[in-house]
Amino acid sequence: MYELEFDKELIRRYDKAGPRYTSYPTAVQFHEDFGPEDYRRLATRSNQQGCSLSLYFHLPFCNTVCFYCACSKVITANRRRAAPYLQRLHREIELQSELFDTTRPVEQLHWGGGTPTFISHDEMRELMAKTREHFQLLDDDTGEYSIEIDPREADRDTIALLRELGFNRISLGVQDFDPAVQKAVNRIQSEAQIAEVMEAVREYGFRSTSFDLIYGLPLQSVESFSRTLDKVVALEPERLSIFNYAHLPELFKPQRQINAADLPGPDEKLAILKYTIEKLTEAGYVYIGMDHFARPDDELAIAQRNGTLHRNFQGYSTHADCDLIAMGMTAIGKVGDSYSQNVKTMDEYYARIDQDQLPIFRGLELDADDLLRREIINQLICHFSLSFPALELAFGISVSEYFATELAELKAMQNDGLLQLNERGITVLGAGKLLIRNICMVFDKYLRQQQTQRYSKVI
Ligand SMILES: C[S@@+](CC[C@H](N)C(=O)[O-])C[C@H]1O[C@@H](n2cnc3c(N)ncnc32)[C@H](O)[C@@H]1O
Ligand code: SF4
Repeated sequence: MYELEFDKELIRRYDKAGPRYTSYPTAVQFHEDFGPEDYRRLATRSNQQGCSLSLYFHLPFCNTVCFYCACSKVITANRRRAAPYLQRLHREIELQSELFDTTRPVEQLHWGGGTPTFISHDEMRELMAKTREHFQLLDDDTGEYSIEIDPREADRDTIALLRELGFNRISLGVQDFDPAVQKAVNRIQSEAQIAEVMEAVREYGFRSTSFDLIYGLPLQSVESFSRTLDKVVALEPERLSIFNYAHLPELFKPQRQINAADLPGPDEKLAILKYTIEKLTEAGYVYIGMDHFARPDDELAIAQRNGTLHRNFQGYSTHADCDLIAMGMTAIGKVGDSYSQNVKTMDEYYARIDQDQLPIFRGLELDADDLLRREIINQLICHFSLSFPALELAFGISVSEYFATELAELKAMQNDGLLQLNERGITVLGAGKLLIRNICMVFDKYLRQQQTQRYSKVI
């Protein structure tokens, strides 16, 4: 595998918005012809295959709003709002468990948000007990049970409780340590809060901790971010996610409170990214891909070296594909060869559950072409390479015929030094690693259709 190379000119040339491919097809393609009946049919079929399960719970509440936030959340200081939501979530657990063979082991479990630890300790206990009552959780700590933690909403006792409940991985929202940046995005949190969580995480024996950082926030510079990185490296997380902040105030209302004049320009942003890669590499982290770094002895890095890395909605994983049952408002599930999404507002969610209906409002069943392209995109994102003979064997196609248009585009990328292309397949080169999203976009049929439509409109 090639070492990551930072090529500023290439990055600038290929700089265009694109999906992060947590799913393919992406959520934009989900449609409302897909509903609870389809889901029921697919759930029944999935029981015949009987692979392991993955459970996702969306806990949307946050006490205050971070101005950059693009997550699906409900801002409230009123802790009592959690109870009626959790009551519906418990009911959804019952409704979902009726559809599945619940002897299927739950290999992965994730609480995401919003802020999962907004709810009280008793509410956490009850949610996990309800889950355990209806699904087969693993009690030997071999599962990947993870939770997103906001350090302002967790102390030693919370961490101890989460471990007791079965969690073994944590991702911690650090974002930036600089006080001026924190003020500009309305996310004030002290280093002491983060250190306290980290100490407890180590003491109670969590398997792995990941930090979320964001570059491109207001008032950030290479200099300020270098101080943040020093502090991050000193805390020794096993994994890091370095997200790129995209300022889209028309789409995400809280971002309107960010002063656009304070945002670092494109050159400064690229310089921050370059510095971050250098600094983390120097500190011993390896680039896994798509914003993620890990220590070389972390399971993710080992799985990548062994060719056994996977990807799911929460990012990279060492566990093979499971059926994903997603619960809570806006949650996206993946059962058999389908994706499905729950309603996006709390009112709709309560209304559906109160009528004993699954709250699924849209989704998609993948056809043979979607499955083929999803496999390609996953291979590229996880392993930076793609074997054509393996693909031809698995899918019964001829790559040169099926992907004639794509191969022509890949040749241009080869000429630009992003990748190597021959009859055996694709190998992403060091300079192409940061542009892996662009390489995947070549295989995205829907993006191509959109581009063609736009082009047709222009003429
Ligand atoms: C659901 S939040 C994490 C949980 C918890 N609420 C917290 O903030 O610590 C997931 C992560 O998404 C990232 N994020 C949110 N909005 C973002 C944006 N506009 N651009 C880049 N990253 C973003 C943040 O790093 C955040 O930690
Ligand atoms: S970053 Fe986390 S705490 Fe902040 S608003 Fe978003 S979900 Fe809530």
